[in-house]
Parts: sequence; C-alpha cells; structure tokens
Amino acid sequence: MKKRLAVFAAMTAALCMSAIGASADEDLITIGFAQVGHESDWRTASTQSCQDVFCEENGYDLQFVDCDNDSAAQLEAVRSFIEQDVDYIIIDPIVSTGWDEVLTECEDAGIPVIVIDRTIDDSDKYAAWVGSNFTTEGLACGEWLKAYAEAKGIEEINALVIEGTTGSSAAIGRTEGFQEIADREGWTILDSQDGDFTQTGGQEIMESYIKSYEGQFNVVICQNDNEAFGAMDAMTAAGISYGVDGDVILVSFDACTAGLEYVQSGDINADFECNPLAAPFVEEVIQQLAAGETPESTVYMEEHWYVNEDIIETITVDGEEQTMTVVTDEIVEAQY
Ligand code: AHR
Repeated sequence: MKKRLAVFAAMTAALCMSAIGASADEDLITIGFAQVGHESDWRTASTQSCQDVFCEENGYDLQFVDCDNDSAAQLEAVRSFIEQDVDYIIIDPIVSTGWDEVLTECEDAGIPVIVIDRTIDDSDKYAAWVGSNFTTEGLACGEWLKAYAEAKGIEEINALVIEGTTGSSAAIGRTEGFQEIADREGWTILDSQDGDFTQTGGQEIMESYIKSYEGQFNVVICQNDNEAFGAMDAMTAAGISYGVDGDVILVSFDACTAGLEYVQSGDINADFECNPLAAPFVEEVIQQLAAGETPESTVYMEEHWYVNEDIIETITVDGEEQTMTVVTDEIVEAQY
C-alpha cells in the first residue's frame, strides 16, 4: 500500500479560489458527505474544511448530512446519496465495521467513495482514505508520558482513560497505542471508559471515576479535547488539581484552538494533534479520479505533539524521532 505524508501548510489560503476551474456554464460536481456529527471542536473544524473546499465557487454542490453519531443514519445518508446519483461520496465512518454492503451498493452504482478521518476496517471498496494514524497518536502519548514521568521523578503511573466513541477507529487506535506503552512500562490503567468524544461524556465519566478512584490516580488521558474540558470541570468541582502545577497529569488529543490554549495555560500537560483539515487532499483525490488516474490509497495528515513545558524535546515513536512542540501565541492563533 502506498503511503504519502500530506503536507497541508500552504494549501489553505486560496481554497475557495482553487478547484477544478469551474465556470458558471459548467455543471457542478455533486458530492455527498456523510459526516459523523457535531460532537467536538475537531468535528466543527472538519465540517468547515469540507464546506470551504467543496463550495459552489469551486464548482461543487455539497450535500452535507450530519449523522449525529448514529450509524444507522449514516448508512441511510449514503444510500440517499446513491439515490440522488451524486458524483462522489465522502464518508467519515462513525464506526469501523458494517460497511461492505453499502460500499458494494456504491460500487454497483459507479459512485467513487473517499473515506476521511476514521477508517473502514471490513471493506476495501473505496478509492482512497485520508486521515490520521490513531495508533501512532496513542503511542506518542505513551512515549511522552514515559519521558515526562522520568524527568519529573514520578515512579508510578496510575492512569484513568476516557475513551472516544466505542467502535470508532480513532478510539481503537489511541487506546491500543497507549496500552502498548503502558504494558511495556508496567503502568496501571485503573479504568478505561467511553466518553463519546463529548464534553458532557468526559465530565460524566470523570465524575464517576472520582467517586471510584479518588486519591488513587495521577494521570488522566482524554481521547479528545472536549472530553478533557469536561474532565477538567469535574476535577475542579472535586478540588483535584491537574496540569503542570497539579497533582494529576492531564493529556488530550486533537489540539484544537481551545485545547492548545489550555496547554499554554498549563491546565493540560500535553495535547496530541489530530489534523481535521483533510478536504484539500480529498479534492486532489477527486481531481485524480476525474482525470482517470489512480489516487494513492492512503494519505496521512501531518500532525504535531504539543506541550507546555520545555523539558522533553523529542520522543521516539516506532523507531522514529519526533519533536515535542511548546505552544506559543503564534501556534494558537494559526490553529483551527
Ligand atoms: O475521529 C476523530 C475524532 O473524532 C476526534 O479526535 C474527535 O474530536 C472527534 O469527535
């Protein structure tokens, strides 16, 4: 399988001016996009990215469906796109399984599918996938925690994990990656439950963790920023201190603007980016398909690992040296 690291930096500015050279006379290219929902800041940025790129000025008619984290509704949305005979279908799969039948229907209808963000693990009937390596994110989180604990003289790790939506590849990969390092280092994971990638979910799970494990944990891993915001509210209400000056090391994923602000203020110790700006790369795939070319099957987004303190400069993830970036005003301002 060919792999390409997507370098997105210079591509965002002229998005609505780019596209496939559409003029008022040409037909718009119709795209159906079955989006997961609106559960997080990350999701809002992902939706905005698609709406910015697949706008009418760029020659597109975007049929957008917010599936509200409901897998049945997502399958229904894809089938409605087939009925409408759209030109391309974009799917961000809520869960990674249960896809082969509907993707076969897309194939039979001759409609190319592009998968973004989360993966589909039980079918290969799509043209390309553009997204993040969630296992690498989880591994990076574990490797950073190991180095950070050593630097701070912390000998024991007793962690609580607030996972993302059960069955989503984002939750599966981050859980597996972190678990691998925890097993290797002999850490204790006291509990690991689904917070559904929402602030309410993060707060509720953290409240129940505090009831069960108060005084027993020194690390909380939240699988996205919104869960971390909820966990912070729960810990603050319970008088538990967290972050760089606190008793609990708080780690998050996504690194959206608000998440990075909390890293900068020291409330979140580290935030592992999940880049939501996939749409420009999806447009490239569509342009290649339209030209009769075969796009690369797998496109990884470029991502960074963010921290507050300048004490761990690099970590090694799967044999590769990776940089830890201290959050600055410029980074926060440039983030989505
Ligand atoms: O699939 C990506 C994950 O889904 C992001 O981490 C989370 O914020 C979103 O809801």
